[in-house]
Amino acid sequence: MEEQNIIFTVEPGGALRGELRVPGDKSISHRSIMLGSLAEGTTEVTGFLEGEDALATLQAFRDMGVNIEGPDNGRVTIHGVGMRGLKTPAGPLNMGNSGTSMRLLCGLLSGQLFNTSLTGDGSLSGRPMRRVTEPLAEMGAVIGTTETGTAPLNVCGDQPLRGIQFDMPVASAQVKSCLLLAGLYAKGRTCVTEPAPTRDHTERMLTGFGYAVERIGAMACVEGGGKLIATPVEVPADISSAAFFMVGASISEGSDIVLQHVGVNPTRIGVINILRQMGADITLSNEREVGGEPVADIRVRSAPLKGIVIPEDQVPLAIDEFPVLFVAAACAEGETVLTGAKELRVKESDRIQVMADGLHILGVDAQPTEDGMVIQGGGANCQLGSGRVESHDDHRIAMAFSMAALRASGPVVINNCANVNTSFPGFVESAQKAGLKIQN
Ligand code: S3P
Repeated sequence: MEEQNIIFTVEPGGALRGELRVPGDKSISHRSIMLGSLAEGTTEVTGFLEGEDALATLQAFRDMGVNIEGPDNGRVTIHGVGMRGLKTPAGPLNMGNSGTSMRLLCGLLSGQLFNTSLTGDGSLSGRPMRRVTEPLAEMGAVIGTTETGTAPLNVCGDQPLRGIQFDMPVASAQVKSCLLLAGLYAKGRTCVTEPAPTRDHTERMLTGFGYAVERIGAMACVEGGGKLIATPVEVPADISSAAFFMVGASISEGSDIVLQHVGVNPTRIGVINILRQMGADITLSNEREVGGEPVADIRVRSAPLKGIVIPEDQVPLAIDEFPVLFVAAACAEGETVLTGAKELRVKESDRIQVMADGLHILGVDAQPTEDGMVIQGGGANCQLGSGRVESHDDHRIAMAFSMAALRASGPVVINNCANVNTSFPGFVESAQKAGLKIQN
């Protein structure tokens, strides 16, 4: 897709106030389409993320013959076709910028009777896919990649799959979910062990659709050959989108914001844990459970932050939030050290290098390392510099630097922000409403 160059211009200063409901959780939205499509019966989804990534998944299932109504104000109705009801798509399935769509679908499609081809944009076509194709091959799948193990992926159908026991070398929910979805079609049991806890939305949603998932310590197992029964899915607001406002409110004096109905699954709350350790003022209220996922309203008031050594066990629990956490670190008193986060180099962009480059432009001492970053924060009274930074088409980089303007000495201009629509349609309007002086 030819993207227009959307430039964000954010005037310095301001504070974030009021109440805000950010869009639906991206991970849960993807999974609702996948499981709803394979289920028996009709699945009603509410709170669905109408962002490009989740819409790529939705379109892929339409291309495979599933009748899906919506999205209309976050409401999607999926007429499930059952485990064997998908049809051969007319052409390649285009996953756009979405790693989750490509990796999860690669597993699910390995179990179908027809061939498929998965393509993506420039960023997705450079991301590593052997982490899924190699264990899938162990299960009996036949998947073609480029010589360097990247997309396009050609998934051969009609290959008998067998369950495996796989110890993941990287803590990746995408790899785990891919293998569990393939495991639904495999003979016997598929078990995946993770080196550290990662988001468990697949396990929770499978259970919600009546499919047994056995969890023993760090291992999740499914037995192939079962079926899914349609169930309503209420998608909470995405904590990864709320995170921008959590950091923005923390670093800008006079802020007091409530983020409503946010998913606070324990495998996603690294950003809360890390910010609290830095001294942030965050309170959760109205805690409840919807459709097997915990949600809460999150109130954040400005507070002086201090630099910390980020505990490595929090890294997978905050993996998408590091771009904006680096901005928090730049405004904190003293040094913040991140290690054990090599994965950041293979996200939508190399988030270690790209954030370090942008922070340098804003005058921040940020030293990238192989697996993290060391940032010297300026403390409560510091101002960041102003300037023009490059998002490298990465939605979370664009939104992270938008929040940096709250503490900048002049405007922050961010280049190539079109991909903000992959995860947070309406970001500019929501941010303006909250008090950020942002224009596009
Ligand atoms: C996701 C898992 C994470 C995350 C991505 C969404 C998911 O990737 O970065 O944005 O929905 O399973 P990894 O599991 O590869 O770290």
